[in-house]
Amino acid sequence: MRKARINTDYYKARRRKLAQLIPNCALVLPAWPEYIRNADSHHNYRPESNLYYLTGFEEPESCLIFRPGQNPETVMFVRQKNVERETWDGFRFGVDGAREVYGYDKVYAWEEFDKVAPELLRSSERIYYSMFRNKEFDEKFGKMMIALNGWRPRYGLGLPPVEDANSLLAELRIRKTEEEADQMRKASVISAEGHIEMMKATKVGIGERALHGTFLKAVMERGAMGEAYGGIVASGNNATTLHYRFNDATCEDGQLLLVDCGAEYLYYSGDITRCWPVNGKFSAVQKRVYNKILKVQKDLCAMVKPGVPHIELQKFTVNALTNVLIEEQILKGSVEENVKAGNHSKYYPHGVSHLLGLDTHDLGVLQVRGQSRALEPGWVLTIEPGLYFPANDTSIPQEFRGLGIRIEDDVLVTEDGCDVMTRDVPKEVEEIEALVGADFR
Ligand code: GLY
Ligand code: MN
Ligand code: MN
Repeated sequence: MRKARINTDYYKARRRKLAQLIPNCALVLPAWPEYIRNADSHHNYRPESNLYYLTGFEEPESCLIFRPGQNPETVMFVRQKNVERETWDGFRFGVDGAREVYGYDKVYAWEEFDKVAPELLRSSERIYYSMFRNKEFDEKFGKMMIALNGWRPRYGLGLPPVEDANSLLAELRIRKTEEEADQMRKASVISAEGHIEMMKATKVGIGERALHGTFLKAVMERGAMGEAYGGIVASGNNATTLHYRFNDATCEDGQLLLVDCGAEYLYYSGDITRCWPVNGKFSAVQKRVYNKILKVQKDLCAMVKPGVPHIELQKFTVNALTNVLIEEQILKGSVEENVKAGNHSKYYPHGVSHLLGLDTHDLGVLQVRGQSRALEPGWVLTIEPGLYFPANDTSIPQEFRGLGIRIEDDVLVTEDGCDVMTRDVPKEVEEIEALVGADFR
């Protein structure tokens, strides 16, 4: 029998917290389907984050129906044991295993969903379910509502309103628990070590793909499940494509390399970007622009503490990077007029910070009725200012063309500031220069 990945009491505690928010209601959380990669091979399966957060369960063809205050309260539907399928695809918990290992109140076979689910929801005041995310399950959900519609009016009840499950879960997931913070620290540390290994393995002529492989090897050796998102290993002008994914170029002398790679540890995401020179030595212009962005990035990390509206990070970044663009004579005029006209966005087109957790762009509401929320202890976010100058932009001096620089760390908001969890990977020019190519010296 396989085990749960962490102590199942953690999932129970999360369900207890949620139960207080939705008395007499029900939450329906299905697993993602499996997706074909080619012929009869599937993509690696990854559980749906909300379902994993509340149950720890990792198999497809499963669904949670959570009914706070009713008995049974935590009901799971799971795949049945199947000797033949397990011979090909590996272990399944099955109905008894899921109940014994994870401690759910009641477990049914997946095949029983259509019959049992309407019975479980017949007296719920509201149903929390996220429509239009999982097409296959939407159909099942629709059938279930039709069944309820045939039943509830006889007892004077109309169809229960359906509310968005994601918005409900967002408020729990935005504030990391102690054990989640530990897991995120581990994802950060492993990701940092992966970056250090890549810096050491960099030399003129190495392929972007080979460096990506260096990252994967380093983080998987250290217990990561793999990468949290498709890693970006972008040499030279490739760094000016924000989500560059080809990773198939050769790193050349004189180029700066931008690497945005993060490990996934127990399904929690690291998300780090560093830039370093392929030949181990920053050129004058690379160093000058890099150090200016580094100053903005460090100032931002110093701003992170409870009470600071999230939007202030973005405003600070826009002003500070616009100032850099003016100093470098890429923009003319004042910071104010350039920001007002949006001139900075040609070179800085993205946000400076997103929430991080089970999803790399994590669930969580950052604005309420147009007002930015203030940071709170337990939130984890990225800090990632950057500037990008495409090679074909003839409106800027030659020396900038083909330069893309972003510096990204992951920070946990604490009671009085923040913990830069990815601090182990160097970002000072001298430290980086001392590391790049170290494998070959
Ligand atoms: N790696 C994705 C991001 O930085 O948002
Ligand atoms: Mn990011
Ligand atoms: Mn990133």
